[in-house]
Amino acid sequence: QIKEKNLFYEINRKVGLYFYHNLTKIPNPALEYLTNRGITPKTLASFGLGYANNSWDDLVLYLQKEGYQLEDIQKCGLIRANKQNGYYDYFRNRIMFPIFNIRGEVVGFGGRVLDDALPKYLNSPETKIFNKSNTLYGLNFARKNISNGQIILVEGYMDVIALHQAGFKNAVASLGTSLTKYHGQLLKKYCDEIILCFDGDTAGIKATMRSVDILTEEKCQFRIMMLPQGKDPDDFIKLHGSDKFREQINKAMSLTDYKILLAKNEHANNTIYDNMKLAKRLSEIIRDIKSPIEQEAYIEKASAETGISKEAIKKEIYGQNPKLS
Ligand code: UTP
Ligand code: MN
Ligand code: MN
Ligand code: MN
Ligand code: MN
Repeated sequence: QIKEKNLFYEINRKVGLYFYHNLTKIPNPALEYLTNRGITPKTLASFGLGYANNSWDDLVLYLQKEGYQLEDIQKCGLIRANKQNGYYDYFRNRIMFPIFNIRGEVVGFGGRVLDDALPKYLNSPETKIFNKSNTLYGLNFARKNISNGQIILVEGYMDVIALHQAGFKNAVASLGTSLTKYHGQLLKKYCDEIILCFDGDTAGIKATMRSVDILTEEKCQFRIMMLPQGKDPDDFIKLHGSDKFREQINKAMSLTDYKILLAKNEHANNTIYDNMKLAKRLSEIIRDIKSPIEQEAYIEKASAETGISKEAIKKEIYGQNPKLS
């Protein structure tokens, strides 16, 4: 069992180095792609980025030549069996991101297409050494760089890499799957506060709302960043630079403030109807606040923003027999 796992680590490491080596062959579409996206040679090397050649059997042949058994390679999720009892490479013509476990061993890969083809990313399947629900991409690097107790949690491979390159070496990503309670426990073990920084799109907002439920359940401290519409952390750094990103981190919000901002964005038209909708939504949000003092403060704000009286908002929150009046 341990022997088999060690063999799988060895195969994955070997393959990671092989993909990395492929990048040095010129001309190379993957190197060109990564360079165009602003990735430096140093970053390429430290994250071990690579290229899976545009071939059906490149890896099959290479690993066989190195003396590995096809069954073992298949169990690593790197090749698949075809109908004729032959094997073909799982990752073809993709930019390769090795996924490391906490000890820095390669446990799997993410592979990105070089164009707009779908699926954009292909990930290694779950194997004896790779379990998506308890792996965080970049944690092996970030754990040594938890500055002021924070971890920045982002969506994607490129977000982690762009942030590390820009000096935010405490960024990690869940692997396209939604955050699990194991991720929550892992994050709690390595930091005091999680800064959630998902993409500024509907999917990112949904992922944020799902994640905060889990983080709350696991009793993790967190704050939330809201990126501009359509932008992810990688885009943001490219557009505005790291100083602006640092400012955004410092402005990261509590869950209540985040919900309020979403509600305001949704009902921004200052019509009577919009103000009414907003006041109702704010009342729901305020109802969930535990501290009466905080509630009171937010009621004040809600009233100022919607032009609806505090009394009406309180009635909306507490029903016809207000606890506070
Ligand atoms: P995004 O769609 O936000 O991609 O998915 P991205 O990270 O910004 O990638 P670029 O910048 O276009 O290269 C976020 C993450 O979700 C997972 C990947 O981990 C990706 O980084 N994902 C996404 C998949 O696993 N498969 C997919 O097809 C798409
Ligand atoms: Mn996204
Ligand atoms: Mn992106
Ligand atoms: Mn993205
Ligand atoms: Mn994108």
